[in-house]
Order: sequence, then structure tokens, then C-alpha cells
Amino acid sequence: MKILIVGNGGREHAIVWRLSRDAAGHALFCAPGNAGTAALATNVPVGAEDLPGLVAWAKDNRPDLVVVGPEAPLCAGLADLLEAEGLKVFGPRKAAARLEGSKAFSKDVMEKAGVPTARARVYTDCAAALAGLSAFSLPVVVKADGLAAGKGVVIAQTRAEAEAAVRDMLEGGRFGAAGAEVLIEEFLEGEEASVFALCDGERVALLPAAQDHKRVNDNDEGPNTGGMGAYTPAPIATPEVMAQVRDRVVLPTLAELRRRGIVYKGVLFCGLMIGPKGVNVLEFNCRFGDPETEVVLPSLEGDFAGTLLACAEGRLDPAALRIRKGAAVTVVMAAPGYPGSYPKGLEISGLGEAAAKGCLVFHAGTAAKDGKVVTAGGRVLTVTALGDDLRGAVDAAYAGVSAIRFEGAHFRRDIAAKAFKHLH
Ligand code: AMP
Ligand code: GLY
Repeated sequence: MKILIVGNGGREHAIVWRLSRDAAGHALFCAPGNAGTAALATNVPVGAEDLPGLVAWAKDNRPDLVVVGPEAPLCAGLADLLEAEGLKVFGPRKAAARLEGSKAFSKDVMEKAGVPTARARVYTDCAAALAGLSAFSLPVVVKADGLAAGKGVVIAQTRAEAEAAVRDMLEGGRFGAAGAEVLIEEFLEGEEASVFALCDGERVALLPAAQDHKRVNDNDEGPNTGGMGAYTPAPIATPEVMAQVRDRVVLPTLAELRRRGIVYKGVLFCGLMIGPKGVNVLEFNCRFGDPETEVVLPSLEGDFAGTLLACAEGRLDPAALRIRKGAAVTVVMAAPGYPGSYPKGLEISGLGEAAAKGCLVFHAGTAAKDGKVVTAGGRVLTVTALGDDLRGAVDAAYAGVSAIRFEGAHFRRDIAAKAFKHLH
């Protein structure tokens, strides 16, 4: 197949890599891609948010399938534009991508579908929102409705903090249009897990659950990041939890969307909180997660392009999915200063050594310069290893990390540590 992958992160490198492993052999194109995708695909110099540019390329080159990585082009309607040209797309149309693009819409769908989720109220008026806070105990969660690059959620420990967050969004215009509506939401305790549900509009195949590590430092300390590492399978997502995710979360959500005339095709990323109140959905995303993709896709066996195309064509066979036994771990190596400001252009060495140790190195923020690979972003790369069990995968991933060097590189040393308390 000829396949276009849209995006330029570690997630897209992992998607490209996994497609390159299909027995059939594909012609792969990545727009815009990075130094890692360049080794497996032809990078196309069109940005992931340049919708007219992407459509023009696809019209000229007629790929058999387009796989869209990030949420922004999906929420802006890239799938709609490509499908209008008769192209097949793995990724939801704009109306379905609102599950990520609008937390108020998502909450409404969940409530109507009976999906377990935190109790919430939605406000556009600041005075009403401030008054509404009294219906919630502390801590309380204040969320901007729209896309805010992961920064639109405030967990307020005090009334004053909650009021400031509400004012910031509704009066201060903190997130622009994305914050013109806010959700005030009950705080849920527990452990988070990420589950990817491949969807064809009606049928669903779940991939094994993963756990991300969002804080920059060990022991979940320091500021939030885009994710510093992940592992799979997550023992907290027991078979009972996974059955609930399929039967009480994903299938009812797809049915509620169909009732509204919306077909959800692509991956529905369920951000879950598993705790004393059972399994609850914190959020839906309309795309694969990063870095979860880098740890989940290497465990997926069989014809990946065929599975994605079946989703796009509404003929997914969930029973056909094969998952490798064992575990996988991915560790993010970040630039010095990340998630604050950081330098670029630092030379990276040891990539071949890590690969020789059996690791998969997925590039996120890298660039090729004078025949060398240099840093070009905050999250620079992720090092993934498979193992017969979690201990083996952890050790193998860190062996790969220790082989890779760039000035000031930092990474967490405790990825997957929290899994062991469930395993022993
Ligand atoms: P969201 O973008 O809605 O997933 O929120 C980002 C992060 O905020 C989540 O990954 C959780 O760590 C946290 N969070 C969001 N909603 C809640 C909630 N209701 N209770 C506790 N933590 C939450
Ligand atoms: N790793 C979380 C996300 O991709 O949103």
C-alpha cells in the first residue's frame, strides 16, 4: 500500500516503524516527519496543520490510506477534506474529533451514553461558574473546554485557586476561544491508565493498557510534561477493567455518536482513572497518545496497515488482532531545561549502540544536520525495549538509554516502578 502518515513526533515515528514491519511492504510517506521517519519513509515537506497542503499532496499522490497522528488537524477537519476527495483515512472526522476538541461535548456524550466519568458542570458565564464552585468539594478540577496543549486543566486545592482558574479562563481569556467555556469537575482519586480503542464506527478492538509518566521528575514530582515514559501492559487494567472499558465506555460512546449521526473511525484514546470509584473516564482523545504509542505498537503483531484500513472502511475484525506476550517499556530522553526552555542543536551519539542492544529508538525532537543527528525539541527521543516480563523490559530500555548521549540529557529513572507494587 501507499500510505501517508501525518505528524512529526515520536508517535508518528512509531507508526511509521510499525507499518514498515508489515509483511506486505508499503511505500511510506510522512508529512512532515523527522530524522527518524526519514530512515523508513519519504518525508514530505508539508506541516501537519497545513490542511490545504496535505490535501493537495494527497490528491496528487493518491495514497491508499492516510493515517493522521495529532489532534489539531483532525479537529480542524482534515479527515473530512480527504474523504471528500475519495481517500481513505484512519482518524475521525471533525464532528467525531470533538470528543477531544470539546470537553463539554465529550462530557455530554458520556453522560447520555451512561459512561462512568467525573460529575461536572459546564459554564460560559463567570459569575455563574464562581457560584457553581460551591457544589463541589476540594480539591476541584477546572478545565478549559477546547484544545489547550495539555495546559487547560487546573487541579485546585483551595477555593481561591479554583476561583482564580475560572476567572483566568472566562474573564482573562487565558486560553482564548478554547477557554470560553469551562468545566468544573469532581476530583477523582486513583491511578491513571491509557487505553487505545481501534474503532470502525461500530466495532472495537482494544490494545493493551499503558501508563504514562507525566511529571518531569522521579516519584511523579516536578511540573507536568507531554509524558516522560510509559510501559505496557498496565497491571492495574485487569481483564475486568478492560471488559468495562469496551462494554461500558467505548461501545456506548460509539452508539451515542451514531444516534447523533456521527461515525467514529480511528483510535479512541481513553484516559482513565482507576480507583475507589471504579473505572472513570478523565478524557477522550481522538488520536494515539505520545509516548504510549511508542510502547504499545511494538507489541502489536500482524498486518497493521490492514487493521487501520479496515477501521477506515468500517470492517474491523476485533478477533483478528494479535498481541505479543510479555511487556514493553519506553523512556523519554529530554533536552536540558525541558519542560521549560531548552537549547536545540545538541549532537546526539550512541543511537546505533542502543539499536545494537535491541532497543527501538523513536525520534521526537530531532533533526539531521551535516550528517549528524541533533536535538530539535524538548522531548528528543524515546527508547523502547520489549521483554519477556516488565523487569526484563525495564532493564533493556535503560541499557539503551545509557548508550545514548547528548549534553544535559535528562530522563526519569523510575519508569514502570509503580507497576511492581501491583505485581508483588
Ligand atoms: P485531561 O486533559 O482532562 O485528561 O486532564 C489532564 C490531567 O489532569 C489528567 O491526566 C489527570 O492527571 C488530571 N485530571 C483531569 N481530570 C481529573 C479529575 N476529574 N480528577 C483527578 N484528576 C484529573
Ligand atoms: N500521553 C498523553 C497524551 O498523548 O495525551
